[in-house]
Amino acid sequence: MIVLAIESSCDETAAAVVRDGRFVLSSVVSSQIDIHAAYGGVVPEIASRAHLQSIAPVVTQALQEAGLGMAALEGVAVTRGPGLSGALLVGFSAAKAIAVALTIPFVGVHHIEGHLFAPFLEQPVAFPFLALVVSGGHTHLYHVEGFGHYTTLGRTIDDAAGEAYDKCAKIMGMPYPGGALIDRMARNGNPGALRLPRPMLRDGSLNFSFSGLKTAVLQQTLKTAVTLPSQAADDLCASFQEAVCHVLAAKTEAAIRQTGATRLVVAGGVACNSGLRRRMISLCQHLGVELSIPHPSLCGDNAAMLAVPGDYYLSHGHRSPLSLDVTATWDMDRIKESLS
Ligand code: KG4
Ligand code: ZN
Repeated sequence: MIVLAIESSCDETAAAVVRDGRFVLSSVVSSQIDIHAAYGGVVPEIASRAHLQSIAPVVTQALQEAGLGMAALEGVAVTRGPGLSGALLVGFSAAKAIAVALTIPFVGVHHIEGHLFAPFLEQPVAFPFLALVVSGGHTHLYHVEGFGHYTTLGRTIDDAAGEAYDKCAKIMGMPYPGGALIDRMARNGNPGALRLPRPMLRDGSLNFSFSGLKTAVLQQTLKTAVTLPSQAADDLCASFQEAVCHVLAAKTEAAIRQTGATRLVVAGGVACNSGLRRRMISLCQHLGVELSIPHPSLCGDNAAMLAVPGDYYLSHGHRSPLSLDVTATWDMDRIKESLS
């Protein structure tokens, strides 16, 4: 099946053409980061308007790069939520319009479901598996039994890991989004330079909390008047990254031990992080667990990842009605209800 996938949940307008939920024929991502950087974060109204300008050119480019015409499409998969409602509506409406015009089915997919299955575009993972999804809006541990069947084992009770990265970067005077820059600066810093808190490390739950860590970075920045670039800034980045990765790895290890999982997927934008990737590789080697982390180009927001669950749903007869609305919040544990 040839599926057109569309993503517009936040600040990336993306379209991809994927065959059989596995082979990426094209994947186009148009980022709005430069537009939002001036405001220090994503401005919802501006995001919606930028999606509106980009959506048709991005879809056209995806078809051109795949070497296919519209007539070759057999289904459309699109992010239904969670995300910014106005932003979601642009991609969702485009997907419906294409499906109606071509008389082909369309299906609304959970954005995090896309992240979860991004590794499948490289190598499918056998079910069941444990998944750590770390992005700008999510830090969640899921038990994944199959497409649509997810159980949340743990989640952040405040900031997501990517959000903590971006907020700490802002505190230190870096441009938005600062996650990748902190990662780069951390490589020149000493991770043991500062002892930053490890929130909820030993509370017995699989939940996370990152807001206290952000406060500690703020206090440290004020106390020592950290400037950029400097060794002190590199050390703060390295110490922050060490604290985040320590907590993520410790909770993931606890989840592996509790569930007896033999496979782990790590996905989402923060899965690009070099420190986290290293830590997860050594954790899984130590525990004898099979690890799947997608190539960094598949970790951030893209449309190809949505085609994996999208293809599964469409080829198993699931269709979204044309009356379906987008949803700013959507619990992964409830997806199975919408499929039955
Ligand atoms: O998955 P994603 O592209 O969008 C969301 O669904 O949120 O994740 C974006 C997040 C941002 O917070 C960004 O700063 C973070 O991923 N990020 C990183 C790195 N690359 C992107 N965080 C830490 N290290 C990186 N190398
Ligand atoms: Zn995302």
